Amino acid sequence: MENDIQQILLTQEQIQNRIRELGQVLTAEYADKNPVIIGVLKGVVVFYADMIRQIKVPCQLDFMWLSSYSGTNSTGKMLVRQDVTADIKGRHVLILEDIYDTGTSLDFTVRHLAEKEPASIKICTLLDKPERRRPGITLQADYVGFTIPNAFVVGYGLDYNEKYRNLPFVGILKPEVYEK
Ligand code: IMP
Ligand code: MG
Repeated sequence: MENDIQQILLTQEQIQNRIRELGQVLTAEYADKNPVIIGVLKGVVVFYADMIRQIKVPCQLDFMWLSSYSGTNSTGKMLVRQDVTADIKGRHVLILEDIYDTGTSLDFTVRHLAEKEPASIKICTLLDKPERRRPGITLQADYVGFTIPNAFVVGYGLDYNEKYRNLPFVGILKPEVYEK
């Protein structure tokens, strides 16, 4: 697996240090708010597990699982494969995401959750690739772990064809891996 990586972009240590910093900010932000922390599956699982342990306030955990219609998300059409189970009406919601790329899935997630009338919605994404944003997406992430260049990355939950999610770092995949 590691042989397919061209460059390690973020080491385990860099990721853990940044998560601790974000944890301090989020702990202050959500003190006394009993937030519902919603992870968007599947890419977020590794970040989610590390991040929630640095948010040192009472909270409720929940998940959403999205998929895009008919294999392409270029249309921006998304499907809720698994909805949140918590009743979030009047609650403070913190969305955790692995990566904010074109913005299609985050934009959809925010609209979908907003219909349930939570007290607030904020977004925390581990990675942000602003160069890839689809025109018309104006949403801003409230908390960003790392802003990264426009390269396809894997590891720490992120996959290519469902592979590499269990790498402990974030790395850029060698181009020949796609071209195979
Ligand atoms: P969106 O384009 O912002 O809607 O991102 C949709 C999803 O594509 C993300 O939640 C990731 O799961 C996946 N994705 C986007 N960029 C990358 C990448 O560089 N590596 C792996 N997965 C990615
Ligand atoms: Mg994702």
